[in-house]
Amino acid sequence: MQTSPNEPAGPPAAHAGEAARGHAQGHAASVHVEIPSPKVRVRGLNFYYGSHQVLFNNTLDIAANHVTAIIGPSGCGKSTHIRVYNRIYELYRDHRAEGSVVIDGKNVLDADTDLLDLRKRVGMIFQKPTPFPTSIFENVAYGLRQHYKTGREELAGRVEDALRRAVLWDEVKDKLSRPATALSGGQQQRVCIARAIAIEPELLLMDEPCSSIDPVGTARIEELIMELKKRFTIVLVTHNMQQAGRVSDYTAFFYQGVIVEFGLTNQIFTKPSEKKTEDYITGRFG
Ligand SMILES: Nc1ncnc2c1ncn2[C@@H]1O[C@H](COP(=O)(O)OP(=O)(O)O)[C@@H](O)[C@H]1O
Ligand SMILES: [Mg+2]
Repeated sequence: MQTSPNEPAGPPAAHAGEAARGHAQGHAASVHVEIPSPKVRVRGLNFYYGSHQVLFNNTLDIAANHVTAIIGPSGCGKSTHIRVYNRIYELYRDHRAEGSVVIDGKNVLDADTDLLDLRKRVGMIFQKPTPFPTSIFENVAYGLRQHYKTGREELAGRVEDALRRAVLWDEVKDKLSRPATALSGGQQQRVCIARAIAIEPELLLMDEPCSSIDPVGTARIEELIMELKKRFTIVLVTHNMQQAGRVSDYTAFFYQGVIVEFGLTNQIFTKPSEKKTEDYITGRFG
């Protein structure tokens, strides 16, 4: 049999069985809300670890200057989904995305995307705080040095500004040359947030940023997220439903790699239209 070079490759064998299990690849999420001129438009996103498909036809709009929460049970694809936005998955071989993720009108999955520029525009905060083994000052100055030519004084001003916006300045202003790793977990996470926002990203991805932080530290980071959304667009992955309820404007519920439902957080939490969503938010599984 002849195959045309333009013909899309067939789905890997591994996922045929998954589709049969009800992954419903053509299935569109229940969407209750339209996002006018979204910051990010995800269309038909599939993701594979080798031949193992873990995201199925994800379609989602992310509203500018709001917080969008991504919720769902462990292993449903939350981290994988947001890691496509800055193509950080490409650090590994065999990880592959299909579909489109349009940020400000440009599909970042296109081959001609400048990855350094993309990662400047799309910042990321991880589950465990990841400060560099350098001083507090150098942690925050790092991205500024990488992306901008700044003089000493301007650099110091920008570091201070980022630490203030991360609501950390008062706690660290007298010990900027101390190692960032000596701070508490919550403070370390705020150093990482300061480092990310110092370079003025347009989009901030946060992957369970409070999961390793105590309740007081968590409350401070939640307040910070509410403040940051005035300036940045935020996607917050969380398994903490109360947190999603407190800080997010929109919520997407993921299940087995499929976006089951998307809408205003209030609506998703009070009157979800899918049984699966209701079961999850009422704690019946997950
Ligand atoms: N590096 C990897 N290689 C292979 N499979 C992976 C890898 N990372 C995650 N997965 C699988 O992809 C699926 C989604 O994982 P993930 O995105 O981490 O889910 P979540 O963040 O919702 O817990 C899971 O089945 C997980 O086992
Ligand atoms: Mg995860």
